[in-house]
Amino acid sequence: MKPVRVGICGLGTVGSGTFNVLTQNGSQIARRAGRDVIIEQVGARRDNPACDTSHTNVTRDIFEVVRNPNVDVVVELIGGSTIAKDLVMEAIQNGKHVVTANKALIAVHGEEIFAAAKAAGVTVGYEAGVAGGIPVIKAIREGLAANKINWLAGIINGTGNFILTEMRDKGRDFDDVLQEAQALGYAEADPTFDVEGIDAAHKLTILSSIAYGIPLQFERCFTEGISKITREDVKYAEELGYRIKHLGVSARTPKGIDLRVHPTLIPEHNMIAKVDGVMNAVAVNGEAVGDTLFSGPGAGAGPTASAVIADIIDIARDIQVEALSFDRLDDVKVLSIEEVETCYYLRMEAFDKAGVLAKVASILSTKGINIEAIIQKEPEEGEQMVPVIMLTHKVLERTMNEAIAEIEALEEINGRITRIRVEHLN
Ligand code: HSE
Repeated sequence: MKPVRVGICGLGTVGSGTFNVLTQNGSQIARRAGRDVIIEQVGARRDNPACDTSHTNVTRDIFEVVRNPNVDVVVELIGGSTIAKDLVMEAIQNGKHVVTANKALIAVHGEEIFAAAKAAGVTVGYEAGVAGGIPVIKAIREGLAANKINWLAGIINGTGNFILTEMRDKGRDFDDVLQEAQALGYAEADPTFDVEGIDAAHKLTILSSIAYGIPLQFERCFTEGISKITREDVKYAEELGYRIKHLGVSARTPKGIDLRVHPTLIPEHNMIAKVDGVMNAVAVNGEAVGDTLFSGPGAGAGPTASAVIADIIDIARDIQVEALSFDRLDDVKVLSIEEVETCYYLRMEAFDKAGVLAKVASILSTKGINIEAIIQKEPEEGEQMVPVIMLTHKVLERTMNEAIAEIEALEEINGRITRIRVEHLN
C-alpha cells in the first residue's frame, strides 16, 4: 500500500514530540496504520534541539508544506487562530487531510473548517485539542455512540490543575507555579488562556458540540478563571470536605444546554477531586452506560503527540474522524449563567458582633436559599472582622446574584463576597 506522507507545521513542544514519536515508533505505527507513515516535510521558523531533523526536508515557510504535492496529511501545530486558520483552509482547498491540536482554532472556526473539509472530501482530526493524551473525543463519539449524553464535567486544563495542586500541597505562590508550568511546556503561548479559563472553554465547547450535537458556540460558554482563588479558599474548602478544581461543566437540561468553566468545589471523595498536577479527567454520564471517567496527562509533548498520531493513523486507515457529532440538535439553546442552577460556597468578612449572621441568613432565607453548612472563625488578635464561610443548596444563579448584592450592602459586611460554585457530579 502507498505510504501516507505527513507534513508537520510547527516544531514547538507538540511538533517536536510528534516528530520524535513518529520517527521512533515508525514500524509499530506502520503496522497499526496498515501502511508506512512518512514525514515528508517539516515547516518551522526555527529548529528545535529536542529533535534531529538532519535527514528531513525542512522549510522555514510553513505554507510550502500545504502546497507540497507529496503531502497527504498536514499536521497543524503552530497554534493561534489567524495564520493557523489560513494554513488549514489552504491545506483543505489543496485536498489534504488535516490533523491539529489547536483547540482555539476548532472552537472558534470549526464550523467553517468542517464545512470546507466536507466540500473537499477530506477529514479534520482534532483529538489532540482536548485533554492532551486522553482519547476522550473518540470515547464520546465512538465508544459511547449508543448513549444520549446527559452531562459531562472535566478538568481540561493541565496548567490550571498543576497550579491549584501545587498551591494546595506545597503552599506555593500562583506566579511561581505558573512559571514552572511554562518551563515544562504545559502552558499556552499566552498563559492567560490557561489561568482565565479560555483554553478550558475552547475544549468544553468542542466536547459539548460532540456530546449534544450542538454547533460550536465558544462565545456562549461562561468562563471564569482561577486567578482569584486564594489559599484561604483552598483551606476552607478542605475543612468542609471539598477540593477546589477548575472545571468545565456541561449538561443537557430541560431549559437548554448548560455550558460553563469556573473554579468549582467538588466533594473530596469524588474521583475527579483526586486528579492532581497536570493530569486531566473527564466524567461523562450517558443514559445507557451511566457514569464514566477518563483520565490521563492533559498536556506536554508525549501525551499530545500520542493523540495527534492516533488521528494520523485513523486517516491512514481511512477512518472518518471529522464527523462533528452523532446527532444535530441545532435549535437547543445554550443557557446564560443566570439561568443555571447550582450550589455555592460563599466567603465573606463580617464584623464580629451579635446579629450579623442572623441578617445574612435572613436574606438567604427570604430568597429561598437553603444553607447546608456554615463556618465562622474566631477573630485574629486585635481584629474586628471574622471570616464567615457558607455552603448552600442548589439555587438559580440569578437569585444568588440578588442575595449577594443584598448581603454586600449590609454595613456589617466588609468588601466583596467570594463565590465559588459547587458540583456534586452525580
Ligand atoms: N495549555 C494546555 C493545558 C495545553 O495546560 O492544558 C494542553 O491543551
